[in-house]
Amino acid sequence: MSIEFSGGMADDERIVSSRQLQDDETETSLRPKTMAEYIGQAKAKENLAVFIEAARRRGEPLDHTLLYGPPGLGKTTLANIIANEMGVNIRITSGPAIEKAGDLAALLTNLSENDILFIDEIHRLNRSVEEILYPAMEDYALDIIIGKGPSARSIRLDLPKFTLIGATTRAGQMTSPLRDRFGVMLRLELYGPEELCEIVARSAGILDVACEPEGALEIARRARGTPRIANRLLRRVRDFAQVRGEGVIDRATADRALLALEIDALGLDNIDRRMLESIVRNYSGGPVGLETLAATIGEEAVTLEDVYEPYLMQIGFLTRTPRGRCVTPRVYEHLGIVPADGQDQLHL
Ligand code: ADE
Repeated sequence: MSIEFSGGMADDERIVSSRQLQDDETETSLRPKTMAEYIGQAKAKENLAVFIEAARRRGEPLDHTLLYGPPGLGKTTLANIIANEMGVNIRITSGPAIEKAGDLAALLTNLSENDILFIDEIHRLNRSVEEILYPAMEDYALDIIIGKGPSARSIRLDLPKFTLIGATTRAGQMTSPLRDRFGVMLRLELYGPEELCEIVARSAGILDVACEPEGALEIARRARGTPRIANRLLRRVRDFAQVRGEGVIDRATADRALLALEIDALGLDNIDRRMLESIVRNYSGGPVGLETLAATIGEEAVTLEDVYEPYLMQIGFLTRTPRGRCVTPRVYEHLGIVPADGQDQLHL
């Protein structure tokens, strides 16, 4: 049996998308401003606190820092907090926004001493821009070529000492000369339900909506380990609570609202379920190659890898093997599919 995927839904139409959507604009008001308010990521926070304190004592900029991990985990938030704690300015841009070497040169020459330049999606910088970054990061210098042909010469401009904070969902796609120039590399991990529950409770307080602990936990359990999704679900559940309920988010209201949004008990939406179902029904549970799977469900391979897979792997539904992706026996149970003869033995 094969499964048809008609007119696949773009990831940014999903309520459980981990990408930033237009509807998330209130996100900025929910973002913590200090390290003390920032929940979770204990390891990254602990290390950062030491590096920040040391740099402050020496009166130097923080070492160039790379933040990597799945989308929606608070890389931009953390960069803003670092700037706050260091007491410096931050300029925010992204890899695709810097089109020419001159764009980056303009950004760099406008920085003040110890400032932070934050480049989101740094793996998407083009090569000619990237080459400007090397001497800038290493020697705080800008090499400019004047003229063309035999009379061309290079002059070196000094830059203020600054910190580059790069963020990426794909550290593996960065060139090694760029990756090697970061003194600090911090991997952000998907959040656990308890941490997300704390984040939901904090956000409910800021949004001024009554939220019982069980209501917060229900949202947290279904937020795919991602604060951005937790905050988005909170806003939608708040709508249900205010229109259909008594204005209070309790467990039953959260459950009803999330079911109405077709988000199941584990936070999976229709696309996740169809993807898992496709591996089960079309590829006997796997292994199936990433590209083949992506073509089957009408998504790009990188989207599957960056956006869908981290959570499915975290909850033990999907494994990556050298021969491709496999579902685990828990998927059959969750989808209510009885394994074909012998199929349940294959990937245990
Ligand atoms: N909002 C989004 N991410 C957060 C975090 N890590 N801590 C607190 N509030 C958040």
